[in-house]
Amino acid sequence: MPLLMRPLWVLSVVSEAYPLVKTGGLADVAGALPAALAPEGVKVVTLMPGYPAVMAALGNAVAHPPEPLFGGEARILAGSARGLDLLVLDAPHLFARAGNPYLGPDRRDWPDNARRFAGLALAAARIGLGALGGWRPHVVHAHDWQAALAPSYLRHAAGSGARPASVVTVHNLAFQGWFPASVAAEIGLPPEALEEAEGGHHGGLSFLKAGLQVADRITTVSPTYAREITTEADGMGLDPVLRARAGVLSGIVNGIDTREWDPARDGRIAVRYGPESIAARGGNKAALQARFGLEADPRAPLFGAVTRLTGQKGSDLMLEALPSLLEAGGQLAVLGSGEAALEAGLRAAQAAHPGRIACTIGYDETLAHQIQAGADMLLVPSRFEPCGLTQLCALRYGAVPLVARVGGLADTVTDATPEAIAAGRATGVVFAPVTAAALAEAIRRAAGLYRDPGVWAGIQAAGMRADVSWREPARAYARLYRAMAGG
Ligand code: ADP
Ligand code: GLC
Repeated sequence: MPLLMRPLWVLSVVSEAYPLVKTGGLADVAGALPAALAPEGVKVVTLMPGYPAVMAALGNAVAHPPEPLFGGEARILAGSARGLDLLVLDAPHLFARAGNPYLGPDRRDWPDNARRFAGLALAAARIGLGALGGWRPHVVHAHDWQAALAPSYLRHAAGSGARPASVVTVHNLAFQGWFPASVAAEIGLPPEALEEAEGGHHGGLSFLKAGLQVADRITTVSPTYAREITTEADGMGLDPVLRARAGVLSGIVNGIDTREWDPARDGRIAVRYGPESIAARGGNKAALQARFGLEADPRAPLFGAVTRLTGQKGSDLMLEALPSLLEAGGQLAVLGSGEAALEAGLRAAQAAHPGRIACTIGYDETLAHQIQAGADMLLVPSRFEPCGLTQLCALRYGAVPLVARVGGLADTVTDATPEAIAAGRATGVVFAPVTAAALAEAIRRAAGLYRDPGVWAGIQAAGMRADVSWREPARAYARLYRAMAGG
């Protein structure tokens, strides 16, 4: 690949990308952004680990010569898979393990995760400095802690020589990649980088902390989250670093893939519809009630949730608010998996209220679409939410999002106040503070709005018209990259 001034080349470094490997929204973003950036003149090449699923999907790859990497041999394979231009880090000693990219069969972190993801970051730095026959990206874009050491390796390897610009995107500050200080010896970090990584009550070192201190730019996935993480309340111990770097920190809200998520063309739902035919959703509601064993009642407000079952997502608050949901005549259909206690709580609620509350514990793309297409409201009571994608899908599908006023949820949903309803701007129900009581009150408020068909249709239509695509976010990333690469 030649080095061209235009287009602008970006090396996206990431540990998961839809549809190859996904545990959450990070994969959706990494999978969709490259295509969204193409019309902006930005070419994205994605560097990711050679997990078995990635190796199997890779077509016509060109192998670069192997190099030693943390106790084994690693090669870079250049190819493409499922529409992504890929550089795959083929390092079997680190990545030839099926299943979840981070966890072993015992559901615990792989014991060598420090080496695995430092290896990814080091490979990114080598590529950034021209290891692949002289091709150099203008920008190295590292996503989350798994890639966050890339700017550190780049800086320390390049010394005073030329290097590409670097940006770290924080998709979730809760995951900081902390390891015992002893791993430093294994991953070849220079002493300066080690200092940047050290600290806090953890007494070890954090990949994310290191990257945040040396990256040229930092982004996160919504403007509100960008502000929140500079505060002690929401900075998760890294707020001092983020405050010190506030001048280079910004928030760009995520989009969703509007071809993948298009109710007018979605082959996974019973009845297809658009903003002009919202009433046709009734068929999907009936199908969803049948699928979940809920009472076939077209008038009961049907709340849905598609979520990791965790404290972050407020799944415990949802359980606590169930009495109010039932009193309001509501039904609940949940698709999710996560913490055992929360899974058990949902199963118990389903057993206690058959026909009114139902859950499917697991991960199911098709069912996620069916919930978005059939539920009247989508619950997202997160305690913190960097951006959130399910409320964007909900907007697009006419499932009115009921969300906590935090992070990207606050930035993407407009509360149905009387003024917003009158102005045709209301797209959902937003509540604060993030407590079970406030959630219960929001559920009652949403059920009330639902029982006023004219108002409800207006909220649904405004949501479906909202631009949740990658167009504007891609423009914002393109502007950022160009500014970083020197115009
Ligand atoms: P996070 O990444 O914090 O989990 P996001 O809202 O950004 O939250 O992204 C979650 C993504 O994962 C969305 O694409 C959502 O549809 C999907 N998802 C979450 N849980 C499930 C599930 N149980 N089954 C199918 N898809 C799910
Ligand atoms: C993280 C966040 C989520 C965000 C996603 C993609 O998983 O929890 O809010 O939407 O990353 O950026």
